Order: sequence, then structure tokens, then C-alpha cells
Amino acid sequence: MCGIVGYVGPRDCTDVLISALTKLEYRGYDSAGIAVFENGKIEVAKSKGRLTDLVKKMEKEGKPNGHAGIGHTRWATHGEPSDINSHPHSGRRVTIVHNGIIENYKELKQFLIDNERTEFLSDTDTEVVAQLLDFYYEGNPIRCIRRVLHELRGSFALGIVFADRPETVYAVRCESPLIVGQGKGEAFIASDVPAILKYTKDYYLLEYGEIAVLKNGSVTFCDFHGRMVEKVLKTADWDEDSAEKGGYPHYMIKEIHEQPTAVKTTITPRIENGMPNLSECGITPETLRDINNIFIVACGTAMHAGMVGKYVIEKLARTSVTVDIASEFRYRDPLIGENDLVIIISQSGETADSKAVLNLVRETKAKSLAVVNVKGSSIARDADMVIYTHAGPEIAVASTKAYMVQLAVMYLLAFEIAYAKGKIDEKECRELIAGLQNIPEVIDKTIDAVVDECQYISTKLITADSLLYIGRGLDYALSMEGSLKLKEISYIHSESYAAGELKHGTISLVEDGMPVIAVATQNTLLEKTVSNIKEVKARGAMTIVICDEYTEIDEDAADYLIRVPKISEVLMPMVATVPMQLLAYYTAVNKGNDVDKPRNLAKSVTVE
Ligand code: M6R
Repeated sequence: MCGIVGYVGPRDCTDVLISALTKLEYRGYDSAGIAVFENGKIEVAKSKGRLTDLVKKMEKEGKPNGHAGIGHTRWATHGEPSDINSHPHSGRRVTIVHNGIIENYKELKQFLIDNERTEFLSDTDTEVVAQLLDFYYEGNPIRCIRRVLHELRGSFALGIVFADRPETVYAVRCESPLIVGQGKGEAFIASDVPAILKYTKDYYLLEYGEIAVLKNGSVTFCDFHGRMVEKVLKTADWDEDSAEKGGYPHYMIKEIHEQPTAVKTTITPRIENGMPNLSECGITPETLRDINNIFIVACGTAMHAGMVGKYVIEKLARTSVTVDIASEFRYRDPLIGENDLVIIISQSGETADSKAVLNLVRETKAKSLAVVNVKGSSIARDADMVIYTHAGPEIAVASTKAYMVQLAVMYLLAFEIAYAKGKIDEKECRELIAGLQNIPEVIDKTIDAVVDECQYISTKLITADSLLYIGRGLDYALSMEGSLKLKEISYIHSESYAAGELKHGTISLVEDGMPVIAVATQNTLLEKTVSNIKEVKARGAMTIVICDEYTEIDEDAADYLIRVPKISEVLMPMVATVPMQLLAYYTAVNKGNDVDKPRNLAKSVTVE
């Protein structure tokens, strides 16, 4: 939810921290702050608002000058966004930045108050940790951190500086992600790899309970018990350019254009001689043959990819698939059988609710499979099997290319399961795979074909207070994502509805001029969808229909038509997604919204 960074080395620390935080702003952006050792003393600068507000403040009031420090960009959990609640937070001798949540902070605060520590300035759980560190600090930072780790409940990663340990940064990880970058004579901490790519591609992944000490440009590690740990240095395969806008005005539109490459990179290593082959992910036809039921569990966009997966797997593999929202699944006491498969889809691999599902699966005899974009993330590491999506870093909060590659993986899985179970023959499987291999090219064509139309239609949407997305079958699954995309960045209320369900209540919302976006790519259901479109049209709706290039839609049904290339019906979601993304993007742009950092949101939701 929040982003934390730290630096020790010869460069101007404030510049490094700000540059690194810029890359993490997608994690939270309601306030920002830094703490830097200046002439042996910790200097703090922080501000409510975006990172640019902090930079402006420092331009006016002066910036801390030094070579070691920590920084933070915040998504508020405890306490409203304000200067006071911004990180870093301090005790008398300790200053910290924190990503995550401390569940027992109230008890700990009471403990401190009972022990005459009453100088709390903010409403945050973080300040309680700073005070607690201070309370236990007797001159040995590691012992103090370990002592406090025993007391804290929740998920967190901390960057810590001690006033009497100048030029040294301490970091600890419990659940919330944290990496430690190693450059030449300099070291970094960050919540995510893109933050440090400008300086180094080499990093260590901090594990649960590990503590890092950054000093004199190098790093040492110890575990929860204070024992030294040798760690393996990893090298990021993302470069700085892939985490930059590359000439596009927003990350979102750049990422929409990156979809063909992302799909190609994701599917190519999983196809051998025209057939699906997921063995590099630990998945064999034998594993899949005996699967009984499948549960797909995820949040938000990733869950919507799962919805498409459900339709496709059930259709082709004739295997029952239940799709659940992770925050519901984990508490609903689901019936998971021995031969069931639980698929967790997550771009970040750190989403708290999705991660919690893995603990649940571990208590059963079922197998877990993670479909994850970020390498080495918690979900990827904790699952029995992993299929990495190779979308590269997704920076825009609104997910586009990650969704597209999640779809690609759903298709690969569906084909492989269907073939393993003998529900499709080799010929059919080869045809399906060939269709999937063609997708990158078709996405490219689709972007070109629909971009102008979407830009134009978006000007008709900006005045709407509310709109509906409708569809049947795969089009319904897809419209869920179209609706989320539009509402999260345009701030226009939007719901997706199974077209046939409208008459059971929701159609009463339709009034003159209300936009209704209908996805109608499933020819087998076309007639029925068109009837539903006409029903809303007859009640005054402004209808926008997304269909393939050959479909004949009655003139009186659609006010606007967006035509996409025709491919096999089962694969249409991968094409029809594109205009939905572009409609959302241009509507947000035309409304003057911050497309990449929509209000109240954060890219990675690491708290419940
Ligand atoms: O990292 P995850 O895929 O687990 O994130 C799940 C959702 O928070 C995410 O898909 C969210 O709905 C999107 N950013 C919306 O575009």
C-alpha cells in the first residue's frame, strides 16, 4: 500500500530517495516524506499530497543534505492524509518508515502510555512502532529491532534509522515486500525493484523476519534470532526503460500498447510444437488429468480474469470452476476437496487477501497454483506451482497488460486441462493454440482500428453520472472488467450486468441519455444480447455496442458501434478488452483525471 525506500552511499541521498519514491508512487500517493542524516543528525521533511508537493516544500524550506536516509510514499490506513500523519515517524532516538499494518497498535500504544510514553503526535500505527523501538533501545539496534518484532502483529516492512548510528540504515521485513539493492559502493532498500533500477539491477529479496544493515555502501543480513544470513544476489530482468513512460503521456496508455509483446512473451515459452506445455511451471498433463474442481481466487481485475477463465475452462475442459473474491473466500469456509486445484491470480503477488488463501489451501490436500507477474513475490513463493505472467512492470494503478496476460494464461490452462482430460483432441488443441499465438498481432490491429472511435465516444461519456456495461456469457465476464476500468479512473459510477438479468430490477435505472455499453462478441448469444440492447434503447439509453467487424447489428439498436477484428469466439475477450481499456482511458483523460494515480487507490493492496 505504501512505498518505502532507503539509501546509503556517495550520492545526494535526498535526490536518490525522491527518484526512487517517484517509481513507487503507484503504491500510495496521499503524502510523502524522507529522513536523512545531515552532519550526523536526522533531518526530516514531509508533506501531505503528492511527492511533487514534498519537493516544492523542500525547494522553499531547504532539503536535507546527506548520504544516508529513508523515504516513504503513503496510502493512508490509520489517520487521514496530513502532514502530521505522513511518514517518517520518530521516537526520541529512532525514526522509521513503514509499509503495512500493525494490528495490535492500540494495545502497544496503551503499554507505552502506561510506561509514561505519552508524546504521540499522529494517529498512525507507525508512530507506535517508532516509540516502541525507542522504548526498548539500549544502544544495540539489532537487539532492539528483534525485541520489537516479537511484539508486533500484522504485516509490515520497516526502514529504520537510529540517531546514534549515523550513515546507517536498518530494514526489516515481515510479510510486506522489501528488497535490498546493491550497487558499487552503495546500497538501497525499496518496496519494489523498479525503484532502484536507475542505480542497480542487483538486489536481495528480504525474507520474513530478516533484518538488513546498510552501512559503508554494503549490506549485511541477520535473521529473526540475530544469526548472520548469507543471501543470494538476484539480477532484475526488467530494465529502467520498461519502468518509464517511454514517450507516452501516461503509463496506462503505454501499457495498453505493450500488450502484444506481453502476451507473446507470456505464451511463447509455454508452447511446444504447437501444443501447450506448462512443464517449466511444474504442471504436467498428469497433474491436470485428475483435477476434480477448480477454484479461482483473486481480487479486482485479477478476479475478472478468473471469470473469463471459468467460462473457458468449463466450456472446453468440462470441469467445474468456482470464481471467488479472495476476501470472501478466505472467510467462507469453502469446501476444498483432495483433488481440487486452487488458482490464485495476482499481478503483484502481494495482495493480502489473495495471499491468505494460500494458508487456507495448505490446511487441505488440494494443490495451489499461482498466476503472478512479480517474480519472487510472496504468493509466487508460497504456492505449490507458479505460472509467471511476463507483462513486465505494470505501473499504472489501473491494470491493463497484466489482465491481458492473465487471460492468456487462463487460455493456456484451459487448453492444457481440456486436452489432458481428453475433452478436446489434438487437432482442436492445435487450432486453439494457433489462435492464441495470433493474438499479439490482432491486439495491435485492434488498437489501431478502435482508438479514434473510443476517443470520440469517450467525449459522450464524460457528462454521465452513471452507466451500465452489459453482456452475456464471456461478454458478461469481460464487461465486469470494462466496468471496473471505467469507474476506477473516470470516477463515473458504473455497473456490469448479465444482460439477461437487467429486467429483474436494474433496468429501472435506465433513463434518457444513460450510456449502456454492450459487449456482443459471442455470436451464439447475439440475438438475445441484441434484444436486451433494444430494451434499454427503448427506455432512452445511449447504446454503445462492441462487436466484431462482420456482425450485423440492427441500426435502431446501437447509437455507436465499435468494431473489432473477428477471431474465434472463445478468444474474443482478448480482443474486445482493448476498446474497453481505451474508452476508460480517454474518458479519464477528457475529464482531466490523474489517469495513472486515481484517487483513493493504490497499486498493491497489502492490507485486508
Ligand atoms: O496485484 P493483484 O493483481 O493481486 O491486485 C488485485 C487488485 O487490487 C487489482 O487487480 C485492482 O483491481 C486493479 N489495479 C484495478 O485496475
